[in-house]
Amino acid sequence: MRPAVLVTGATGFLGGHLARRLVDNGDCDVRVLVRRDSKSAPLEDLGMELSVGDLMDRDSLRSAVSGVDIVYHIAASFRTEHLTRDDMWRTNVQGTQDLLEVSHEAGVQRFVHCSSVGVHGAINDPPGTEESPFDPGDRYQETKAEAEKMASDFGEQHGLPVVIFRPAGIYGPDDLRFLKLFKSVNSGVFRMIGSGKVLYQMIFVEDLVDGVLLCGMSNKAVGEVFILTGDRPHSLNSITQTIAETLGVEISSLRIPSTPVYVAGALCELVCRPLGINPPLYRRRVDFFRKTRAFSIEKAQEVLGFSPKVDLEEGLRRTATWYEEQGLL
Ligand SMILES: NC(=O)c1ccc[n+]([C@@H]2O[C@H](COP(=O)([O-])OP(=O)(O)OC[C@H]3O[C@@H](n4cnc5c(N)ncnc54)[C@H](OP(=O)(O)O)[C@@H]3O)[C@@H](O)[C@H]2O)c1
Repeated sequence: MRPAVLVTGATGFLGGHLARRLVDNGDCDVRVLVRRDSKSAPLEDLGMELSVGDLMDRDSLRSAVSGVDIVYHIAASFRTEHLTRDDMWRTNVQGTQDLLEVSHEAGVQRFVHCSSVGVHGAINDPPGTEESPFDPGDRYQETKAEAEKMASDFGEQHGLPVVIFRPAGIYGPDDLRFLKLFKSVNSGVFRMIGSGKVLYQMIFVEDLVDGVLLCGMSNKAVGEVFILTGDRPHSLNSITQTIAETLGVEISSLRIPSTPVYVAGALCELVCRPLGINPPLYRRRVDFFRKTRAFSIEKAQEVLGFSPKVDLEEGLRRTATWYEEQGLL
């Protein structure tokens, strides 16, 4: 019988790429957990089975995992700074706990959990590895750290084969998170916040999907945690310069000190959150310019055979092309 797979978060960036790849590969039945108001029609058109539900609704999760062999749990409350701490916690932590429990009850054979390198906070002594200490730097990262620990403990205690992956910054077609940076470089108004010497490591979304599928298939992966990112870090100066070259524009060498911007981010959060508005600037966004995120992918290479193929120049070019095709740039 063909295996059945459940993907959560398929209306989002990574989950969408993963679910489409699974359909393209054609060797399993793909079910996706979608919220009632999510834009899910295109997924159904591709032949995926929609299971309407919500991570905050345990009964809906029970139906979603019924008859499923592999769960790829990608969904999270991520670009939702307007949410209260409680709502973020209910989705990312309680939702994961509920999904683990119903998956175990339903006899799921593998649970692949998407965490984040953000659980480590800043990496002061690069490269970070799977053994680097947890030091989440904001409430989103706190929920990712807690959910990951829970998934790991649940797997050990109940014999559910859990695999955890921690992606670094994901980019590529369909992502809108880096669009602001592209737009600002393109318009000529971009100013680096801080020195720009901070290291950042990104992964092109299709490379990440390769790694996630290895987490779902490799027998050696069970019970393990893998950092999945591109093969090397780049300074922010180098990333923005590559974007500028891709777009055929020049960027200013003027810089803005990061501390006042960080304070402005904190103020925006303070004002916007009680009003339920996503703040235009928030501390996690400013942390992008302040915190080193450089990692080793040696474990994923050795254990999974993970091998990212798209280098930064190529990945940024493909991303820019997609933004242009969508009329976003
Ligand atoms: N993007 C990155 O750079 C990055 C880096 C490290 C880790 N990650 C992790 O990677 C995963 C995917 O990130 P992404 O960039 O693809 O995020 P995304 O585009 O924001 O997608 C989030 C997905 O989660 C779903 N979701 C949110 N709350 C839900 C709930 N209560 N019940 C059911 N589904 C819910 C969303 O559904 P709707 O369409 O209904 O909103 C959407 O499909 C997340 O776990 C994130 O923490 C991302």
